Parts: sequence; structure tokens; C-alpha cells
Amino acid sequence: MKVIEPKNYNFSNVKFFSPMQLGEHYILYTRYIDCLNKVREDLNSDTTYAICNSNYSDIRSAIKSKTFCYDSIKLHELYFENLTGNNTRIQGRIQSLIDEIFGSYENFIEKFKCIALSMRGWVLFCYDWYHDEYYIYGQDSHDEGVMLYAEPLIVLDVYEHAYMIDYGINRGNYIDAFISNLDFRIINKRLSNLNFWKTE
Ligand SMILES: [Fe+2]
Repeated sequence: MKVIEPKNYNFSNVKFFSPMQLGEHYILYTRYIDCLNKVREDLNSDTTYAICNSNYSDIRSAIKSKTFCYDSIKLHELYFENLTGNNTRIQGRIQSLIDEIFGSYENFIEKFKCIALSMRGWVLFCYDWYHDEYYIYGQDSHDEGVMLYAEPLIVLDVYEHAYMIDYGINRGNYIDAFISNLDFRIINKRLSNLNFWKTE
């Protein structure tokens, strides 16, 4: 069975975040990977399927944990990937897309920030394959409120662990710091991949 390994990220150009904040967050991400590897192992064992019960059973716990840990890993990787401190000036296709949908980048940020202050887990700007539309949405946890068919373009972690060391309970300042480190080359790359699949 394939073992999932954590990815490496270069945070050396990320501004307004301490190495401790980023380091602790990264360690947390690796714990989700440990969890997923354990769950995958358990799902390969017949004993996990001994009792099939929706109140309490090993298989129920394993299935619930698989979604929780796997979504957390995917979301954290998307978050770390777009938090680099490089290419921070909005440009290219993402700029014209945001202008087209929100009128201006400032309007987009205002709405994105409002949603980020209103959710407990994650905020995403995404493309929805189902109705061919773009929107910002939020999740209260890794596995709660996940939108089917939503392809992430910008991903922000708003769990307290993402900012508490540097910002205490001041989430607004953390969101501003995140936005100032957004890598628009990465976001444009996600958009290009999307356009590739859309035209296939
Ligand atoms: Fe996180």
C-alpha cells in the first residue's frame, strides 16, 4: 500500500508570519498525514469490518477519519502552496476574472475577508464544475460544508491554529497578512489547469 508523504514548502519569503507559527502549522499538517496512513492501513484489514454499525464501530470511525484527515491534507497543501510571499501583485487571468465577477480586486477582498471572518475552518475561491460558475465559499471544518464539484483556486485556513501564535485572536490582521503573501503565479497556474480540462 502506498504511504502518503508530506510535501515540502519554502516559507523563506513569507512576510508577517513567524517561523514558529508556520513551523507549528506544518507539524500539524504532518499529523494529518500520519492519521491518514493509519486509517488506510486499518481499511485494508478485515477486522475493521467485523462490526457494521452506525452508532459505534471501527469501520465508522475509520471512514469518518479518512474524510476528515484527507480533506485536511488537501486543503493544507493548497493553502501552503498559495502562501509563498512571491508574485504577490495580482495579474494575468485571475485579475481579469476577479474584475469581471466582483467589479474590482478591492471588492473581491472585502467579500473574501467578510466570509473569512464568518467561518470556522476554511475559505475558498473556487470554480464550480456543476454550474460553470466562480464563487467564494467557506467550511466550518475539514469535512463539514465541503462543496461538491468546487475546484479550489485560492485557499485560506481560518482555524485558530493558523494564526494564534502570531496574531492572538486578531483574525482580521492574519487575513490581511495572508492576502499580502498570496502567490498569483500559483493561482494563475491553477486557473490554467482548469481551462485545460474545461476545453478537453
Ligand atoms: Fe491548518
